Amino acid sequence: AGCTGTENGSDQPVDVIVEEKIVSVVVGIDGEYPPYSFIDSDGNAQGFDVDSVKWIADKKGFEVEIKPMAWDSIIPSLIAGKIDMVYSGMTITPDRLEKVNFSKPYWIANQGVAVKKGSEITLDDIKSGKAVIGTQAGCTAAEWISEYLVDTGIMPEENLKQSYSSIALAITDLENGRVDAVMYDTPVIIESIKGKDLEKLGTIETNEEYGVAIRKTDVLLLETMNEGIDELMADPYWQELIDKYDLA
Ligand code: ARG
Repeated sequence: AGCTGTENGSDQPVDVIVEEKIVSVVVGIDGEYPPYSFIDSDGNAQGFDVDSVKWIADKKGFEVEIKPMAWDSIIPSLIAGKIDMVYSGMTITPDRLEKVNFSKPYWIANQGVAVKKGSEITLDDIKSGKAVIGTQAGCTAAEWISEYLVDTGIMPEENLKQSYSSIALAITDLENGRVDAVMYDTPVIIESIKGKDLEKLGTIETNEEYGVAIRKTDVLLLETMNEGIDELMADPYWQELIDKYDLA
């Protein structure tokens, strides 16, 4: 993990300056974050972010290994060196920036709210703290609800259910009526309610920027990823990916 190497191998004279480059990288993803990162029925990692990092790796000439893992342990795993980056719809936040670096932003997302079809709940009920809202632990939806609804006294703390380790579990509880609503990044809400008796109630504009999280010490990897993201976003493949994953 975090393997860097030289073009010339290791036996060159010490006074020869060789350019260091990234050789192989372990990429941590949440396997339950469609359409950015998910595991398909054959057990393969797929998604907008997975395809993006594969393209960048190919372009920049390094190998990638995709490692699905639990969201709540993903930054600790990065810091501990079990993975070399997190490329999985992670919002750049001040708290996270204290622990890790982020690449330049590659996506902007807002928070979507899902409810049961035909539910009486309105977006105003959500904003006035009247609904029991479920979301994944350690995500920006939970942060938003805490900051704007719980800490301000608008919403009783017990109305926030942020114990879900994945969004799929929160969606199941919404279907079963154990929560009134689920709040999560809009594209993921849209993807997660497909084919279910659920609907999107609305969007709360948070204008979050997604970035790739990288250890603070991995400066070369950060530079390489920033270049790669620029190149990807300037390439026709970028629009292909947006279309493929219905992200427009
Ligand atoms: N964008 C939100 C955040 O950064 C949710 C991300 C959840 N991503 C995931 N792979 N589970 O907190």
